[in-house]
Amino acid sequence: MNTKKTIVVVGATGAQGGGLVRAILNDPDHEFTVRAVTRDVSTDKAKELARLGAEVVTANVDDLESLKKAFQGAYGAFCVTFFWDHFSPEKENNQAKAMAEASKHAGIKHVIWSTLDDTRKLIPLSDDRMPTLMGKYKVPHFDAKGESNHFFSDLGLPVTMLNTVFYWDNFIYFGLGPKKGPDGKLAITMPMGDKKLPGIAAADIGKCALGIFKAGQKYIGKTIGIAGEHLTGKQMADGFARVLGKEVVFNDIAPEIYRSFGFPGAQDMGNMFQFKRDFEKEYCKSRDVELTRALNPSLLTFDKWLNQNKKLIPIE
Ligand SMILES: NC(=O)c1ccc[n+]([C@@H]2O[C@H](COP(=O)([O-])OP(=O)(O)OC[C@H]3O[C@@H](n4cnc5c(N)ncnc54)[C@H](OP(=O)(O)O)[C@@H]3O)[C@@H](O)[C@H]2O)c1
Repeated sequence: MNTKKTIVVVGATGAQGGGLVRAILNDPDHEFTVRAVTRDVSTDKAKELARLGAEVVTANVDDLESLKKAFQGAYGAFCVTFFWDHFSPEKENNQAKAMAEASKHAGIKHVIWSTLDDTRKLIPLSDDRMPTLMGKYKVPHFDAKGESNHFFSDLGLPVTMLNTVFYWDNFIYFGLGPKKGPDGKLAITMPMGDKKLPGIAAADIGKCALGIFKAGQKYIGKTIGIAGEHLTGKQMADGFARVLGKEVVFNDIAPEIYRSFGFPGAQDMGNMFQFKRDFEKEYCKSRDVELTRALNPSLLTFDKWLNQNKKLIPIE
């Protein structure tokens, strides 16, 4: 009989959840088994997880009953929502609520809720340094997650609130990599001024989550913020230049220019960067690199991440 504790992982075919599934399967202590949640077990990504040794099950975060079934009998649950699939803070609230309820129903012993700050605690809606979006948010994809924390705590769940951070993988998959400017120079563009942006290799989030589960009671009831490094735009541009062997500059722009870029989510992202710029001290303080390394001793620095991923970074 299998007596190992099972961790059920939402978003298992994605960046955060996928990192956790692989971290559990690669854990030399083999402390946990892993149940990977997907909406479709027949995709290549889902099949790959099964091939690696995960139990792969179907559930949808919009369907509470499916979550209850998927969470049944598990020891731990990793819960994450998918803002960029739908751009709806209210949907994110409902999905978080459903995962909290499924965790309660299944008697989960340790829940990790992958969350972000409710920025309105530092920049209330009345503060016109940045526009209010969708009527009641400053940074919708942050605020909706922070606002949803209470679904987990209200139910008295044994929860760790995991404040995640900007993935460096955005330079590959989110269109944020170096682009040629009018002067022909490659540049990364972010309204960050000379302030530091905490970042992480997306796969390290899952490794940290495993560290949190392995620590048992230690982080239950706690809020943990993680980061691989805190770097200025210029430091990141210099890193790109080193690994690409080409000049790459940091293009600092005003947040209002970023908000006007017009791609879906540009206003949300513009406010997000401005929040991180204007509240650098508070934001960096809440993402402790040493704690992150203690949870995940193989934590990548930006340079190491760049060296491992340079071939994947799209360069015009
Ligand atoms: N990009 C960043 O820098 C960053 C930083 C911090 C936090 N975040 C947050 O991270 C979250 C996304 O996490 P991620 O990057 O790990 O996601 P991801 O890589 O986009 O993948 C998410 C996976 O979730 C599954 N999924 C989507 N909708 C689902 C649903 N309704 N029910 C069940 N599963 C569903 C999909 O798997 P199947 O197709 O197999 O079902 C997908 O592979 C977002 O909310 C974002 O705000 C992003």
